[in-house]
Amino acid sequence: MKLTTSTLLSLATAALAAPNPTHTTPLKPRQASHGCPSAVTLDAKTNVFRQYTLHANNFYRSEVEAAAAQISDPTLAAKALKVADVGSFLWIDTIANIKRFEDNLVDVPCDHIFGAVVYNLPGRDCAAKASNGELRTGEINRYKYDYIDKIAEIIKKHSNVAFALVIEPDSLPNLVTNSDVQKCRDAAREYREGVAYALRTLNLPNVVMYIDAGHGGWLGWDSNLRPGAEELASVYRSAGSPSQVRGIATNVAGWNAWDLTPGEFSRASDAQWNQCQNEKTYVEVFGRYLRDAGMPNHAIVDTGRNGVQGLRKEWGNWCNINGAGFGQRFTTNTGSELCDAFVWVKPGGESDGTSDPSAERYDSFCGKEESFKPSPEAGQWNQAYFEMLLRNANPPF
Ligand code: BGC
Repeated sequence: MKLTTSTLLSLATAALAAPNPTHTTPLKPRQASHGCPSAVTLDAKTNVFRQYTLHANNFYRSEVEAAAAQISDPTLAAKALKVADVGSFLWIDTIANIKRFEDNLVDVPCDHIFGAVVYNLPGRDCAAKASNGELRTGEINRYKYDYIDKIAEIIKKHSNVAFALVIEPDSLPNLVTNSDVQKCRDAAREYREGVAYALRTLNLPNVVMYIDAGHGGWLGWDSNLRPGAEELASVYRSAGSPSQVRGIATNVAGWNAWDLTPGEFSRASDAQWNQCQNEKTYVEVFGRYLRDAGMPNHAIVDTGRNGVQGLRKEWGNWCNINGAGFGQRFTTNTGSELCDAFVWVKPGGESDGTSDPSAERYDSFCGKEESFKPSPEAGQWNQAYFEMLLRNANPPF
């Protein structure tokens, strides 16, 4: 998945002023208890992460435990195990993986919220190749009935569990900036229809939703702010302005720092055209446009892999950035009223795309000089990359 291309321009970034770790919500080990005694009702007019800790799901836990078992240095292996306790999102990236989602709902304590990413639109990842999905343009009915409806059924069945959903990374941002790409033009109608269907169908009392809004180096350009906000807001309205939409998710699978000043790319030749040189500014500036366009504008920001800055040659480089480190762990102590929480959305250690040029889903962004090699297919585990993220973690483990 990712942004790509020309319109993405050079991006900027911001620095990661690691918030005070003592304010980080304590992470909890796996517990036997499941759900709340009665049905959960979330008020999306409030920051529900203040009430619920982001759950450390068993799928990522098992990936991380397997990775730790492969590390011979006992100190590093012990640190690796701590990653298993970090709250993060589970990606429902195929119809088959809906089962993985359901299987992971067995141990969510009442004070936790389960994070999941809805990511399976027809013609997915239209401006890049690495994360092209299983559904082709034209398969919107499978998306609606075999994918979204099934997820909704599971969430209804687990009415005593709280859910936070990130809706379709990169999809609407691609429509804003990549309309020159034929695949994006072809996919546009079904992206809008699919996202609206997801918002309407998943608008359940125990759910809060955040629609993906790219990042500061994508929709943060002066000329993208208004069209970006209008694109998101119009899909939100066409879904009937669902009550459980809280706002946006930014920096998903991204690398931008939260509040680095000056931003990582603020000295680039085109920096004058982007006032959103870090994610904090992006959330605040884009948030104003969203509000004006009539959409809820609170945010969650992916800090999973932004612990090290200064690694990218260009802001738009998105694939397996070499030298990266895990970032801030889950916390609601963001210092910004609009930002509900820092969360790990991209599970660190899972690849962004293959570095094998002969693979069908090879994207040249994964062959860039600053991209880690070798790297497996998107979503597959990369042990060496995980160990690097761990060594470079900021704050450290
Ligand atoms: C991949 C998905 C994967 C997700 C999380 C995306 O880039 O396309 O298959 O689930 O990353 O790793």
